[in-house]
Parts: sequence; C-alpha cells; structure tokens
Amino acid sequence: LITIEVAAGARPYPVWIGRDLLGQAGALLAPFARAGRLVIVTDENVWAAQGERLVAGLGSFRAEPIILPPGEASKSWPALEQLIDRLAALGVERTDHLVAFGGGMIGDLAGFAAAMFKRGCPYVQLPTSLLAQVDSSVGGKTAINTATAKNLVGAFHQPAAVLIDTAVLGTLPACELHAGYAEIVKYGLIGDPAFFAWCEAMGERLLAGDEAARLHAIETSIRAKAAIVAADERDTEGRRALLNFGHTFGHALELESGYALLHGEAVALGMALAFRFSARLGLCPPAAADRATAHLAASGLPTTLPSDCAPERLLAHMGHDKKAAGGGLTLILTRGIGQAFLARDVSEQHLLTFLTAEAAGR
Ligand SMILES: NC(=O)c1ccc[n+]([C@@H]2O[C@H](COP(=O)([O-])OP(=O)(O)OC[C@H]3O[C@@H](n4cnc5c(N)ncnc54)[C@H](O)[C@@H]3O)[C@@H](O)[C@H]2O)c1
Repeated sequence: LITIEVAAGARPYPVWIGRDLLGQAGALLAPFARAGRLVIVTDENVWAAQGERLVAGLGSFRAEPIILPPGEASKSWPALEQLIDRLAALGVERTDHLVAFGGGMIGDLAGFAAAMFKRGCPYVQLPTSLLAQVDSSVGGKTAINTATAKNLVGAFHQPAAVLIDTAVLGTLPACELHAGYAEIVKYGLIGDPAFFAWCEAMGERLLAGDEAARLHAIETSIRAKAAIVAADERDTEGRRALLNFGHTFGHALELESGYALLHGEAVALGMALAFRFSARLGLCPPAAADRATAHLAASGLPTTLPSDCAPERLLAHMGHDKKAAGGGLTLILTRGIGQAFLARDVSEQHLLTFLTAEAAGR
C-alpha cells in the first residue's frame, strides 16, 4: 500500500494506492461511515463491472448505491438535481461522507453535490478510470457542464481520502485506458523530462497491463499533482494552470466533436497542437514537438486535426474557454519536453493561421 499525503484544504488527506484495495474497503473506509452506512454515488457501467467487489470489500457496512446513467451528459444540472433529491430522500446528514465510485464524471458530479448538499458534506473518492486515478480524483476541483461550456459551474472541495485500486482497471474499456494514459504523459511533458522518457520506454507495457508500470505511473502522477495542488490549491498563481496543458485546445475539440472525442483523447491532440504551435512561434525546438507527438501517436492517441474541422469555430470555442482572460488568449505553451509555461496574450491571429494550416494538413 502506497500512501501519499495531499496538503490541501482544511486538513491533509491520504491517497492510498495499491492492487485489490477494494477488498480492504471496509477497513479503509470505516472512519467515514456513520451508523454502519456508506452512500455510494456511481454510474451503471462502474456498478455493473465493479459493484460486487466493492460490496464484498465493505463487509458488514451497508452500501446504498445511487446509480446514474454513464457519460458526460450526467455532469449536468438535471442529474445534479436528481442526485441531491436522492441524497435528501435517503436522509443523508451533513456529517455523512459520500463515496464517489467511478471515473472523472462521477468524481466531479458527486464532489460538487457534496460541496453543496446541506452547505457541504465530506466525500471520499474511489476512482475507477485511469484518468480519474491519475488526475481528477485528487485536487478538489468539482464541476458540472452547462450548454455554454464544460466545467462552467463548480466548487473547490477536497476529498477526505482517495482510494485507488489498480485492479478495477481490468474492466475499463481499452479506449478509456488510452485516454487516461494521455494525462500520465502530461505530467512528463509539463515538468518532468525523465518521467516522459520513462513513458517512452514503459508506456506500451503499462497499457498492456504491466502492474508494476501502472503503480509507478499512478504514484508519479499523483505525487506531481499533489505537489502542484499544495502550491496553488485555488489555481490562482499559474502553477496549477500548467495542469491544463493541452486542455484549452482539448476542450474546444471536445465541444467541436460533440463529445465524440474522449476527454483524454482531446487532451492528447491538444498537447500535440500546443507543442507544434510553440514550435511555430519559435518557442520550442521542432524536434521536441516531433518527439512528444510521436509518443502520443504510438500510444494510440490522436495527434492531428480531423480534416472536417473548422479552424474559426475551434478558435471561437477556445475564446469561450473560461481560462481565457481579456485581450489575447491565455494558453499553456512550452519551451521543450518538461518545460510548459503559462503564456498570456497569445495572438488570436497567429493561432488562427496555425489552426488553418493544421486543418489543411500542413
Ligand atoms: N476535477 C478534475 O480535476 C478533473 C481533471 C480531469 C478531468 N476531469 C473530468 O473527468 C471527466 C472524464 O473522466 P473519465 O475519463 O474518467 O470519464 P467517465 O467518468 O465518463 O468514465 C469513462 C467511461 O468508463 C466507464 N468506467 C469507468 N471506470 C470503469 C471501470 N473500472 N470498469 C468499467 N467501466 C468503467 C464509465 O462508466 C464511462 O463510461 C470529464 O468530465 C472531465 O472534465 C476532472
């Protein structure tokens, strides 16, 4: 069992990482249960694939699952309202801990419900997708989407604990595994060139199921995220913003594809674009952009714009991204592998010229 402390929020909280931790869920979650009960928020896929293991691991605790439809559509006002009504109907108190058992969608939605319900109740994260295990379950950002933008409405609300069981990845669809891997590569690309080199050497084995590689990548990712979150919990000093590398492009691509692209896939393509745009601006050696792109592509992730993509619309979506400040765009760009930085006042004209060339395959 690996334990990492995250120093954020009212008190530090533990992240436990290991294989078959669901089997120990009863012991690990005992401090968070009230009157022998745990209220679990999950989605249909996760419950069908892993619900039995969790119930078995909880032993004598009563698990009361609230099971929502899977998919990004559940990160919405109507789903949040239904969830809050269910919590009320179950008699959940402000001292109860919700248990977010699922991928980033469930983590963001249940975390936001916890932040609001009875003015805030605690919650625990049990992330089941690779993306949630290396990124979204730690750091306390919770949100839902609106028609205007992804994650437009939310709150900072740190979990009381995070329990990461690598065994649950056994039922995760392959495309979701690859999408989550993009966020692992991100930590190397933004600030850790040695870890990026490790990804180049070990990524294929990790994706194929190598347990030691998965544990190492999850631990390295969570340590990197924990350090950044501790330094800039509320995302005000630019440090935490680096975690959004590839995300302004990525959110625009997700929206433009009607969410046909998975979040991690959009981020992979967004990171490749951020590298090539940085190279075009003369900020980063073209060889570094080629190297980053080559590894993402070799990992089965998209790295080029689809030919039917309209550059003007992409640019408009990027302008809507909540990270854009007045004037030019604020983007995370890079000077090389492991050297991402926050660039303010990026010229929209340069960006449009770049996107037009990319869409034309140049
Ligand atoms: N809060 C943050 O800091 C943060 C960071 C990154 C991403 N996010 C958010 O996370 C969301 C994406 O998360 P995601 O990629 O985990 O998507 P997701 O939660 O929708 O999960 C992806 C799919 O995999 C299924 N699934 C998950 N675990 C499974 C398992 N073990 N076995 C079988 N099926 C399983 C789900 O039912 C779903 O169909 C986005 O909404 C994004 O905005 C939040």
